[in-house]
Amino acid sequence: MAFSSNSCPEELTFPKGFGWGAATAAYQVEGGWDADGKGPNVWDTFTHQGGDRVFRNQTADVACGSYTLWEEDLKCIKQLGLTHYRFSLSWSRLLPDGTTGFINQKGIDYYNKMINDLLANGITPVVTLYHFDFPQPLEDQGGWKTGAIIEVFDAYARFCFGTFGDRVKLWITINEPNILALFAYETGMFPPGVPNPEIGAYQAVHNMIKAHAKAWHSYDSLFRKKQNGQVSVALFSPWVAPANPTSVADQEAAKRAMALALDSFAKPIFIDGDYPAELKSRVAAMSKKQGYASSRLPEFTDEEKKMIKGTADFFAVQYYTASLAKHRENSGGGPSLLKDIEVEVFPDPSWQASYPGSWIYVVPWGIRELLKNIKDTYNNPVIYITENGFPQGDPAPLDDTQRWEYFRQTIQELYKAIHLDKVNLQLYCVWSLLDNFEWTEGYSNKFGLYQVDFENPALPRVPYKSAMEYAKVIQNNGIKGSL
Ligand code: BGC
Repeated sequence: MAFSSNSCPEELTFPKGFGWGAATAAYQVEGGWDADGKGPNVWDTFTHQGGDRVFRNQTADVACGSYTLWEEDLKCIKQLGLTHYRFSLSWSRLLPDGTTGFINQKGIDYYNKMINDLLANGITPVVTLYHFDFPQPLEDQGGWKTGAIIEVFDAYARFCFGTFGDRVKLWITINEPNILALFAYETGMFPPGVPNPEIGAYQAVHNMIKAHAKAWHSYDSLFRKKQNGQVSVALFSPWVAPANPTSVADQEAAKRAMALALDSFAKPIFIDGDYPAELKSRVAAMSKKQGYASSRLPEFTDEEKKMIKGTADFFAVQYYTASLAKHRENSGGGPSLLKDIEVEVFPDPSWQASYPGSWIYVVPWGIRELLKNIKDTYNNPVIYITENGFPQGDPAPLDDTQRWEYFRQTIQELYKAIHLDKVNLQLYCVWSLLDNFEWTEGYSNKFGLYQVDFENPALPRVPYKSAMEYAKVIQNNGIKGSL
């Protein structure tokens, strides 16, 4: 059917077999933080220390209780009719000290049940090995700042592929390494909570890329033939547009912001094993000015580049919002990854926040721009949107009409991306199945398709209007009836 880039037909039917999913992450939903032999992770430590780094010093000790209430989650998943359910494994639940030296059978049993129940209901599991909840004993040994973690992560990945890979065919190694590196190792907003703006994030980025690549190779050489699955890494990316579209300085600034957010991971992994050239020369020049003997951004050896290049079987991207960018001179005040790129980002004043004070501005068209950009830059890969969401504040009305409007418009943009831009998009996952523990925002942000009453010990799940609307979309494989 012919339609222009600004209009859409009333009925949107997605390609046959298109995947409709929802996502969660272990620490955000499971609870059972020390149940049945689980070891501590960095979020357990961080939240237990208090110190007002998390909204009202909340913890996810109980969260949505999914460790004991999996059957309740499954009911929601079935009610929605999801084709895919994305969840993460708690590394510390499986390997209490982070290493394969000791394996917790109770953890294996829990995930086996989830996987088997999903498959028995015709739902494809998409499994993330590591979603921010790093084992504390490994952090104590230097965490992602040390190269030693690469082997340890690879051993964990091999253990997971070997244990669950007969049934799990879609794997994500690391969730949003780009955000993790920044929040955990540059700003200290996430555990370990120690700001390290000089080199912390760059070291973490470097080691995470290598760890991902090594795990991909392990899958490729040891498991792929028999298991026939796919492995990738989930990258967070905003869409960043120039504040003034006709200004070359702003265009360049927007490109640099995208290079840092997305390309610093995607280029090595999808293209050539190395960081974007501009990022390298820029950090090298800044580092020189700051008196460092070498660039604060470490370099990959030729052998490492070869090892990293081509280590993803699909492109997994997570989109929440857009920004405008303009050039901002680095005015000194100490080295920092964020200052290296000399960009100021901010929302367009006409964009609405999802709720007052939220960092998420409602920009559904940004997802189409991002998808086009990925198609053009990364040789038209198969793309999975492994997260996209819209938070409500607290209290969040069950009648979340405004939020459904966001999802509806987003689905239109996906349709245009597939039909007009010929983007090879095959899966869309909403973040999140349930209201859950939103990291430093605690329970104050409500991202769920299902509301969870955290005051009620039974933690009941109740669908928002968006859940019922999403269920219709899934059933129709698109949008039926008038828009
Ligand atoms: C993360 C989720 C998080 C969501 C909303 C993503 O960056 O993967 O864990 O809850 O964004 O902030």
